Order: sequence, then structure tokens, then C-alpha cells
Amino acid sequence: MSQKRQLHLGAVLRGAGGVGEHGVWRDAEVPVDASINIDYYIEQARLAEEAKFDLIFVVDSHYITPASPPHYLNRFEPFTVLSALATQTKNIGLVGTITTSFEEPFLVARRFASLDLISRGRAGWNVVTSGDEGTAKLFGISEHFDYEHRYTRAEEHVRLVQKLWDTYEDDAFPRNTTTGEFLNPEKFHPVNHQGRHFQLEGPLNISRSQQGQPVIFQAGDSEFGRNLGGSIGEGIFTHQATLQDAKAFREDIRNRALQHGRNPDHLIIMPGIDVVVGDTDAQARELEKEIHQQDADFDKSLKQFGRSFGWHDFTQYDLDAPFPDLTGLGDNSFKTRADAVRSRAREHGLTLRQVIEEFGTPQPSPFVGSPETVANLIQEWFENGGVDGFNIHYRTHRQFKRFTNEVLPILRSRSIVRSDYESSTLRGNLGLPVPENQNTANTRLAQQVFV
Ligand SMILES: Cc1cc2nc3c(=O)[nH]c(=O)nc-3n(C[C@H](O)[C@H](O)[C@H](O)COP(=O)(O)O)c2cc1C
Repeated sequence: MSQKRQLHLGAVLRGAGGVGEHGVWRDAEVPVDASINIDYYIEQARLAEEAKFDLIFVVDSHYITPASPPHYLNRFEPFTVLSALATQTKNIGLVGTITTSFEEPFLVARRFASLDLISRGRAGWNVVTSGDEGTAKLFGISEHFDYEHRYTRAEEHVRLVQKLWDTYEDDAFPRNTTTGEFLNPEKFHPVNHQGRHFQLEGPLNISRSQQGQPVIFQAGDSEFGRNLGGSIGEGIFTHQATLQDAKAFREDIRNRALQHGRNPDHLIIMPGIDVVVGDTDAQARELEKEIHQQDADFDKSLKQFGRSFGWHDFTQYDLDAPFPDLTGLGDNSFKTRADAVRSRAREHGLTLRQVIEEFGTPQPSPFVGSPETVANLIQEWFENGGVDGFNIHYRTHRQFKRFTNEVLPILRSRSIVRSDYESSTLRGNLGLPVPENQNTANTRLAQQVFV
């Protein structure tokens, strides 16, 4: 009998607060150096594992300005922190954000394969293309790549990394101390890739893990981004404001996967949600209001708002005049968001001040309420085809514990989330198949032909 479909859970690891969260680092519960405090991260990883989350997720980017959020100004890079967390946990997946726009496939393949072996099959890669225009210059490139370049490079990059991961077949290393045979060279397959963005010849110097290959996640909402998700994504990170939007997005991505000849059930779609749990719905809304008041800093929001538009300086405009016509600005940056802001401002005749209030400051989340209310909403989104899982954003460890101790038991009693891990690998827990080594598959196919 097939197992009941289960909701998957990710915890977005927290430091000193993300975009628009100006007050987190000053919260008495949060260490002022949270983003570079390994103990703070270890505690979160352990809490998430005790609650049987599928994965912890490290968001990342490179370019900063003094106006960037405190967390962005001073934080760990994903491979290092996830390797440390791998040694402190046993079952939970470890997903790190790495850009395909500026990293070399060989090095990405090698570092992820190492993390996958260190964690015994729990690594995942969140593939992003870097929206911050200033990133290019950090890598000696004078101009940021446009979308077409970023996304064609992303697809070629991921496929090349996957080829490198298959360098060794699973039985490549007899390690026979009697005969002295360490490697079976017939099971060793250097890569020869001549493509538009990359030319690479040679083998990867590390073997596959218990889960075959790290799980590929993807985040990017544009037409290009969705196509990439349908093509290579096994997990999709996104933001969706309503159940209706989430359903449409999930259906769209599943259709794109079908068009790429893939099984859409092998895609786990996980929107990120802000969760605030209180004793009652009213108290939770009060808590959310307090959080938003702690974060309220219009001047900082105004400065950070420029990020989606290539860090354009919006302080130069009259706040109460109509939102400026900035057609084309941000086209190589976070275009999907910049376009959404522009069209909303145009359709509703918004001023710059109104736009900042709507897009530049945290907005009420649907997932705020008593444990019962939050559990009911999660169930509703899941059972109505909106999601396969959620990436949970929380304010502090205390808030996270309210979610794990009060909301999850309700979902567990309804058999929506697991009581224990099914597997010690990320693929196993997500219900994703282990990809067959392509070289093993080729040999098998060739033998079938000649039988
Ligand atoms: C849910 C979500 C999470 C993302 N996380 C990151 C991230 O951690 N680092 C990063 O550089 N970009 C991140 N991105 C940005 C994308 O990689 C992409 O460059 C950007 O969204 C612009 O592309 P788009 O218009 O296709 O969304 C994220 C995007 C989404 C939708």
C-alpha cells in the first residue's frame, strides 16, 4: 500500500535577520553576533532535527552595501557552516545556496560531494543565479550577466556538476588489501564537456554518497527561473502570498517538469512562510504587530529597497510624488520583483512612500495565530494542492519552539507530518529517487543491446 503523502518541512536558519528585519539583532533573545555565532546555528539545527524537519536551509549571496541587513553584513558562507552542522546532526538535510553565475562547476561539484559524504547523504544545493548586480565585480567581471546568460549558464552548470558527480561508479573502489587493487579503472569516467559557457576535461576526485547525488533545489520565479526549476529542480523554494497563487505556481512548475519528460511527483515545492504562534489568534496578531514595530525603520527600508533595482538610490526622490518611472532599471538584477513593484505602483497610482510601506516593510502573514489556526492553514494549503512542504521562517528560537512544540503535534496527530525519520538521507526523507549513475546506466544499456 502506498504511504500517505506527507508534508515536508525546512527551517531557514536564522542569524541577525533578513531583508526588512531591522530589529532582530537588538532582540534580547538573539545574540548580537548571531550570524557568526556557530552555537546559535547548532542550537537551531538540533531543534529542527528533534522536530523531524526534512532540512535546514542556508540562504546566501555575496554583494553588500552599508545599507544591507545586519545578517548580510557579516555571516558564514554555506559550505563551512553546513559542514560544521553535519557533525552535530544525524538525519536532517543540509541545503546550501550556491550561485551558478560566479562559481566554477568543478569546485562546486567537489565541495558538495564532500558535504554529502561528511553528512552521509544529506546535502542539497539551492541553485541561484545572483540577482545583486554588484556581485560581478567581486569576481573581476565588469558587468552583471543578463537573465538569458544567467539562466542558460545555470542549466549547463548544474548538468555539468551532475556529470562530474558520476565520475566514479558505485563499485569503483574495490580497496582490496590482499590484491592491492584500490581502484577499478573501468569504473572511472572522466568528463569531456565542450559547451556554450563551460569547457571542462577530466575527472572529479571524489565519489558519490549514500544518496547518489546531492538534491537539487532551485529558487527563481521568472519565466527563465521556472523553466530551470521544471528542468533540473527536485525541490523548489518560492514565496506565494495566497493558497490560490500557490496552487497556480505548483501546477505551473509541475507542468513544466512534465514538458521536460520528468515525473512531477519528483518535485517538492516549498514556499517560505513567516510563522508566529500565540495562545490565541488575537494574541498572535499582537505579537506579529510588536515584531513589525521592532523592525519599523522607514529610512533603512528606503535604502534597502534599492536592492531589487541594482541598488538604485531611492533617497533622491520625493516620497510623496508618484513612484518614479524606472523602466529597465533592475532588468539584470531581481527583475521579477522590480516588475511586480512597477506594475503595482502604476496600476494603483502609488507614491514612493506607499510602495516602501507595501514592498519594503514586513507584511502580515497568513500563518499567524493559535497553534490550531496555524495547523489548520498548513493542512488546508497542503491538502488543496498548494504545496508539498513549507520552509519555515521564525523570529527567535522561542518562536520556533512554539511552532515545533505546539503546531507540529497537531499536524502529527492528523498524520500530515512524520513522527520519525524514514531515512538517514535527504533523498530518502523527501521521497526522491536515487539517480542512477549515468555511466553505470550506459554500460547496462550497452550490454542489453549486445545480449
Ligand atoms: C524563494 C527564493 C529564494 C532565493 N534565495 C536566494 C539566495 O539565497 N541567494 C541568491 O543569491 N538568490 C536567491 N534568490 C534569487 C534567484 O536566484 C534569482 O537570481 C532572483 O530571484 C532573480 O531571478 P528571478 O527573477 O528568476 O526570481 C532567491 C529567489 C527566490 C524566489
